[in-house]
Amino acid sequence: MKEMVISQAPINIALCKYWGKKDIKKVLPYTDSISISLDKFYTETSVKRTSNQGFSYTLNGERLKGEALKKVLDFCRLFYDDIINLNVSIASMNTGPTSAGLASSASAYAALAIALNEFFELDYDQETLTTITRKGSGSASRSLLDGFVRWTRKGHVEKLCSAPSNLVMIAVVIDESEKEISSREAMEIGVNTSSYYEQFIVDNQDIADKMTKVLCPFDLQKVGILMEESTALMHRVMETSNPVINYLRPRSIQLKELVKKWRKNGLKAYTTMDAGPNVKILTTVDQLDEVIRHLDAEDYTTYYQLSPGKKARVITSE
Ligand code: PMV
Repeated sequence: MKEMVISQAPINIALCKYWGKKDIKKVLPYTDSISISLDKFYTETSVKRTSNQGFSYTLNGERLKGEALKKVLDFCRLFYDDIINLNVSIASMNTGPTSAGLASSASAYAALAIALNEFFELDYDQETLTTITRKGSGSASRSLLDGFVRWTRKGHVEKLCSAPSNLVMIAVVIDESEKEISSREAMEIGVNTSSYYEQFIVDNQDIADKMTKVLCPFDLQKVGILMEESTALMHRVMETSNPVINYLRPRSIQLKELVKKWRKNGLKAYTTMDAGPNVKILTTVDQLDEVIRHLDAEDYTTYYQLSPGKKARVITSE
């Protein structure tokens, strides 16, 4: 066991969505999904031995309690069964807004997995690490890698290729409040109640296959259109769920429509939305000034520019 380990893991945004588990226990998805790992909003996690303070876990400086603590603890136990009886303090810092559809749980579980693997000197291979990481959050397994990452129905994660350095994802913040229903719960409702779900599996898998062919080398227009299609399919599952799941705000939908309109005038930019109201715009550096000019004109004032990021890694180990 080490004295102290610090890790970092990127957030990832799905270009082709994951929505629904075929195997809840093993966290195996119904369809493949594809994401890009990004540079901002990463999670940094430290695992330290303390002299006599028992086990503690803080997220953004606050001690976790109740259900939230139980979930993290169950995850930690996958690395060291009796961790609760160790003098170990774990501190996780998300550098972006938590639970607002900006993938903070993905970076958080990937960073925790990488840190615990190093702290307990387990030396797990990627396959094992992936199998464990996705039990924290399915999409977290994609945050282990950089570039364009495909997570398959069989559970493998693979880097398809590096993302071009001129690619930009603009995260437009519509609302930073935490989501009312977790993606875990919402997708289960979708699988069990949406009359569209069976077709979603066919359509979204088809998008994953098509997208893989246009990512390397990167074709922004083709990837962008497919990303918007996959986003629409996922939100159609939510709309046809019982109860209906709605993470979007009127301003989210308005921005999606505006970007389509700007595209008609030559802008090369595409939108996606996840389990939250914020809108992510996929574009390239040469389009940036124009996108920002449009956003400012429409009064979308809070946005962040994200570029391709590094994979999950240990940055300190003592
Ligand atoms: O990994 P989870 O359980 O947080 O689910 C993530 C689901 C989406 O972010 C909405 C889509 C995706 O593929 O990341």
